Amino acid sequence: MSVLIGTWKMSLTGVGGSARLLADGGEAGDAVEQAIVCVEDEPAFTSVGYGGLPDREGHVMTDAAFMNGTTLRLGAVMSVESVRSPIRLARRLCGRPTNCVLAGHGAEQAARAFGLPFRDMRTEAAMRRWREACEQAALDQEVYTGHDTVCVLALDERGHMAAGTSTSGLFMKAPGRVGDTPLVGSGFYCDDRYGAAAATGLGEDIMRGCLSYEAVSLMRRGADPLTACREALGALVARKVALGEGCGSMSMIALAPDGSFGAATTLPVFPFAVGRDGAAVLRAVGCADPAIRPVTEAELAEAD
Ligand code: GLY
Repeated sequence: MSVLIGTWKMSLTGVGGSARLLADGGEAGDAVEQAIVCVEDEPAFTSVGYGGLPDREGHVMTDAAFMNGTTLRLGAVMSVESVRSPIRLARRLCGRPTNCVLAGHGAEQAARAFGLPFRDMRTEAAMRRWREACEQAALDQEVYTGHDTVCVLALDERGHMAAGTSTSGLFMKAPGRVGDTPLVGSGFYCDDRYGAAAATGLGEDIMRGCLSYEAVSLMRRGADPLTACREALGALVARKVALGEGCGSMSMIALAPDGSFGAATTLPVFPFAVGRDGAAVLRAVGCADPAIRPVTEAELAEAD
């Protein structure tokens, strides 16, 4: 059996392509990389790759990660400015025993050494949004809109699993700011024996609960992926509430080695793509109704 899941409606096309790849006997790692590249290359998606929204200084700075569930090796890049496909770079770094997590200049040097393509990641639309935000008086206004990282988890016919993440992070973030996306255990985790998980939402909150490792840890102790997502996210939300803090936007997905999957969210609706038997469909969960269900037509029109 092969299955892959991806966060948000934006992953649907890529997950569909990778579902066909897996159905033809492809590898989990290739499926993850291909699905995420599809999102990174699409300028209409304003929170990932080309077309991502800039930081306060007008630079589109990307973060990405890749983890191999068979070897537990990982690669991650942070604050990378002009590498066309950050997930490809993260995956290339994944084979290394050391120097597998690189930031900024060093990550771009590695991309050059691997022969990966570069591009100006700024689109005219993104820079227009940035100029408008700059013109508003308070730069510290809440500009975060809640849907950000593309995360993809895959299981191939051989039982291998892989996880990948990619984002341009928060719009108008401080220069050098890094969220959960490239942080192992927070933004992603993957172990063939127990399953994989990944998170999307406000990185500063997600990293406080190491959400992805927590979900895989719960699966190791016997939880199914839906319960693991609910319990990992629920425990962090409960702790934040006990600390007197509001509940920010966080969502997560998980995939088990038997192909079952789960998701949880603090949002009214969190859509995610599920790829099986060579095709992909959208499913959703909500904070009030945590059961996995099809996405309605109205939600589909609204969803990113
Ligand atoms: N979850 C992505 C970020 O906070 O940058």
